[in-house]
Amino acid sequence: CGIVGYIGKRDSQDILLDGLKKLEYRGYDSAGIAVFTKNGLEITKSKGRLANLEGLLREAPLEGSVGIGHTRWATHGKPSDVNSHPHTDNSAKFSVVHNGIVENYLNLKEELMAKGHIFVSETDTEVISHLVADEYDGNIVEAVQRAVKRMRGAFALGVLTEFEPDRLVAVRYASPLVIGVGEGENFIGSDIPAILEHTRNVYILNDGEMAVLTRNGVELLTTEGEIISKEIFHVDWDLVTAEKAGFDHFMLKEIHEQPKAYRDTMMSRITEDGKSVELKELGMTAEFIKSIRKVHIVACGTAYHAGLVGKTVIESLVRIPVETDVASEYRYRSPIITPDTLVIVVSQSGETADTLAALREAQRNGARVLAITNVVGSSIAREADHVLITWAGLEIAVASTKAYTSQLVAFYLFGLHLAGTIGAQEASFIEEVITSMKQLPEQVESILEQSAVLKQVAESISHHKHLFFIGRGVDYAVAQEGSLKLKEISYIHSEAYAAGELKHGTLALIEDGIPVIALVTQEELYEKTLSNIKEVKARGAHVLGIANAGTEEEVAKSVDELFAIPKTLPLLSPALSVVPLQLISYYASLALEHDVDKPRNLAKSVTVE
Ligand code: G6P
Repeated sequence: CGIVGYIGKRDSQDILLDGLKKLEYRGYDSAGIAVFTKNGLEITKSKGRLANLEGLLREAPLEGSVGIGHTRWATHGKPSDVNSHPHTDNSAKFSVVHNGIVENYLNLKEELMAKGHIFVSETDTEVISHLVADEYDGNIVEAVQRAVKRMRGAFALGVLTEFEPDRLVAVRYASPLVIGVGEGENFIGSDIPAILEHTRNVYILNDGEMAVLTRNGVELLTTEGEIISKEIFHVDWDLVTAEKAGFDHFMLKEIHEQPKAYRDTMMSRITEDGKSVELKELGMTAEFIKSIRKVHIVACGTAYHAGLVGKTVIESLVRIPVETDVASEYRYRSPIITPDTLVIVVSQSGETADTLAALREAQRNGARVLAITNVVGSSIAREADHVLITWAGLEIAVASTKAYTSQLVAFYLFGLHLAGTIGAQEASFIEEVITSMKQLPEQVESILEQSAVLKQVAESISHHKHLFFIGRGVDYAVAQEGSLKLKEISYIHSEAYAAGELKHGTLALIEDGIPVIALVTQEELYEKTLSNIKEVKARGAHVLGIANAGTEEEVAKSVDELFAIPKTLPLLSPALSVVPLQLISYYASLALEHDVDKPRNLAKSVTVE
């Protein structure tokens, strides 16, 4: 989501709308603004693209020089007029725009309802406006401080109250927020592009910091009330760079957002004691879970590759048979669907036509469908019987990265949830997996720090016309994703092979100097994969091994180059091993001067069959 705010002497409506236009890449399923007009605090909001809001405001403008605005990417509650921001309370004297997720909003909501608050939306944000109103006793800054103390999660807020029309309060807790400093006017924005047209002088808030804006000044303090001072950051880059947060491409930015996507996708679903996974949001009864006899995973492209890992995750954790299919094949192969089959569809966009058709086919045959998707309110999310959202945030680059890895996390969570419910695994093992999952974000960060090495590898690969990826078990699933990534954006022909299968035909293609990327993270299969590596090396291949830290010395003896990933449980290794492959694809595309974010012939969301 994106938020923007203005306090000054000019009319705020157009400034807010312009800011929202710059933020539209952060979400565009609804938008709204709140402005102090001569009638008090007035709100106009609308479902759909920003153009809808603009249409409404053209007919009935909101005139006033203080306001806040929001463009939404639905998390809690489907895209609709009533779920759009800004939100207000029952007195309609307070208004809030919010980016992030308040994890304990249901508890807060229950408590406020008991006090007589009436809620109109399904959102966590509406809870904040009621909470602030409830805490208010004449000082909006203190009310916001008390409110945020009670909130858990990640959020950035802009808050207005009609009782203090000359103040705009902003808070940051793990969701980005910047303050723009002007002359006789000040701004807030989710990011710099939203306000860059008006000022290049900004304060970048850190977590737990807040700002109180008036027309003539900005006061910075902590949410504990302690006054702080900060250097002004002078922005000297242009808008295009700013939207990508300083990265050259959306793909690179999204690769770097994976640690955050991991945390966002897993943390609210792991119990506080770190012992189990709770997915109450699924609305799946224990009785139903116990009745599942087989699972079909259906998806397209990168999501299908996540499904290949999902198969191993569910089979090994729960010992229920799983089949994974590409959606365009599934429908037409008369799949054997019985009432005790759970069909899982995986889709970043939630709009892929083939996947949607497979979902409908499964339901027609009497199966229940679980959707793993990144878009709340998408067609697939709406039609599925159960939904597990990946909180990867908006993904813009056509080549999927953070959506794929968040889908892996979703499978780990779901697999553990099933195993816990059925009692298929020892509690101590479930805890061990959870502990290792929590380490993944930092482990990804440590891989990202080694990008320079991968850039070199990519540059040498970019001179080749063909290459191979090999691996066994989940390494083979990751090899397939690595190969697809490379094809999508570098246009280099590559194939992924189960390491042991190569010798049954494709080995004929191995010739002097051909690059082979070998994944060797599964220690029980390690000896076998090393033998396969020797087979290709004996035919002249140049092998890059991707192996676990701790085994690198051993693996290094069999390969030409080695990249070590941090050690984790074998089942979790795809969440790490795919990251170097993403970076190799990215840098190969860059070396070949292709359009990384918009590769030829491809679309982000394919809504035709
Ligand atoms: C398109 C994209 C792929 C994506 C596939 C499935 O082909 O180019 O990157 O993996 O669709 O998309 P979905 O939104 O269903 O995950």
